[in-house]
Amino acid sequence: MRYYILFGPPGAGKGTQATAMVEKYNLRHISTGELLRKEIAAGSELGLKAKALIDAGALVPDEIVEGMIESEFNTVKDVEGFLLDGFPRTTAQATALDGMLAKKSEEVTAVVSIMIPDEMIKERIKHRASIEGRADDANDETIANRIRTYHDKTEPLVGYYKENGKYHEIDGTGTIDEVRSKIFGLMDKF
Ligand code: AP5
Ligand code: MG
Repeated sequence: MRYYILFGPPGAGKGTQATAMVEKYNLRHISTGELLRKEIAAGSELGLKAKALIDAGALVPDEIVEGMIESEFNTVKDVEGFLLDGFPRTTAQATALDGMLAKKSEEVTAVVSIMIPDEMIKERIKHRASIEGRADDANDETIANRIRTYHDKTEPLVGYYKENGKYHEIDGTGTIDEVRSKIFGLMDKF
């Protein structure tokens, strides 16, 4: 099995690019953000817990998302691998992922990181707010917190994955087509 991490700040284009990636490489797309939004929409206890944190632009507790990922790994069959979008997001999550995979004698195949500058994050999220109506896209303070949370808690993972040689960075500032062809050019080599 292949285990790809689709990494990048909010609004970098992870969800946008994931659709084409899972189709081309027969992967299962797991977006922890989307799974959490489904829980919120369903009004589950987990969703209620997550909502306040997400709406504030903070992360939900590591154990919650780790449990979601493990349950997907254990139930999804008939794919050649997984594309993790928005997970891991903390060093603790990265270590937990390594542990889950080690139990299966597997490891992370590669990290595909889509990078854009902070100003572009704001533009992209504002653009999406007018189309999708995501609660965490709706106000400037939440967006600023998401960017801060990314730099404080998630960006350190760049060093973590560079150290073990898994990190591959793509310039995310071009058009959707340009970014996609760069990603395909990279993934064709794995
Ligand atoms: P999550 O849903 O993962 O949100 P995010 O990481 O903030 O990322 P986004 O989904 O906002 O951006 P994206 O990179 O997918 O961009 P997109 O393709 O949509 O997480 C939401 C929340 O859930 C978190 O804040 C946290 O609270 C919680 N959470 C999730 N995972 C967690 C975890 N592991 N641990 C703890 N908490 C967790 O593109 C954005 C827009 O730009 C779109 O409109 C798109 O059309 C456009 N666009 C994309 N590419 C281009 C391009 N090349 N040119 C022009 N426009 C483009
Ligand atoms: Mg997304």
